[in-house]
Amino acid sequence: MNNTLTVNLENLSRTANIAIVLLFVLFGLMGHFVSFFFHFLTIPFFLLVVLNLYWRYGQTTHTLLANFGFLAQVRYLLESIGPELRQYLFASDIEERPFNRIERAEVYRKSKGIDSLSAFGSLLEYGRDEIKLLHSFYPLNHDQIGSCDFVVGSARNLKTAYHIRKPIMISAMSYGALGQNAVRALARGAKLAGAIMNTGEGGYPKYHLMEGCDLIFQMGTAKFGVRTEDGVLD
Ligand SMILES: Cc1cc2nc3c(=O)[nH]c(=O)nc-3n(C[C@H](O)[C@H](O)[C@H](O)COP(=O)(O)O)c2cc1C
Repeated sequence: MNNTLTVNLENLSRTANIAIVLLFVLFGLMGHFVSFFFHFLTIPFFLLVVLNLYWRYGQTTHTLLANFGFLAQVRYLLESIGPELRQYLFASDIEERPFNRIERAEVYRKSKGIDSLSAFGSLLEYGRDEIKLLHSFYPLNHDQIGSCDFVVGSARNLKTAYHIRKPIMISAMSYGALGQNAVRALARGAKLAGAIMNTGEGGYPKYHLMEGCDLIFQMGTAKFGVRTEDGVLD
């Protein structure tokens, strides 16, 4: 036995096409015998019946109309308001492109000068797949901290293979975007934490080197730190 719910469009449209004729007749009779005001319904249904005849037998441009009659118009209508339905009813706040609703709302607020500050924390629902760094409530003892030793260059037996001992680094922020005090403060923190600091693409002025932390050097298109005066790679 087939237990699935299905709609037979042909039957549905046949029923709908007959139903509008019956309703037209019904309201016509009620307007005649019960109250004149039923003719306010008789007239629209009369127009619908006439139009429906035209759609089904008069015109040849739209196949759907010819096959299904006014039900096809309902489909055209739903299709035309599909983007709005999706946007307002079905699309989630984070799924549209290129900018989702959360981002657009932020831009609207800013452009209207409305306070667009929002609290820390995310409205997004994170799945289980991301790597998350969470602080612990209590500091751990040294013997509770596992090792995450990772050697860069070990596969090639490099003499200068590099041990990454902490899974943390300060991401690239170029000198220029940051001033010397920020660079030195971050570098000092990295040294204390045993973390690595990425120089960013602004080169490595002496400030990065003064605190003695491990550095990742980032070379950008402008070749800051590795170029001659006239811009040649050096
Ligand atoms: C002031 C500043 C300067 C940055 N400079 C660089 C850079 O030189 N090279 C780079 O790859 N990313 C640069 N970034 C991007 C950061 O490395 C990082 O990817 C970005 O800030 C996103 O990380 P966050 O969400 O933790 O801030 C910079 C970011 C900031 C805030």
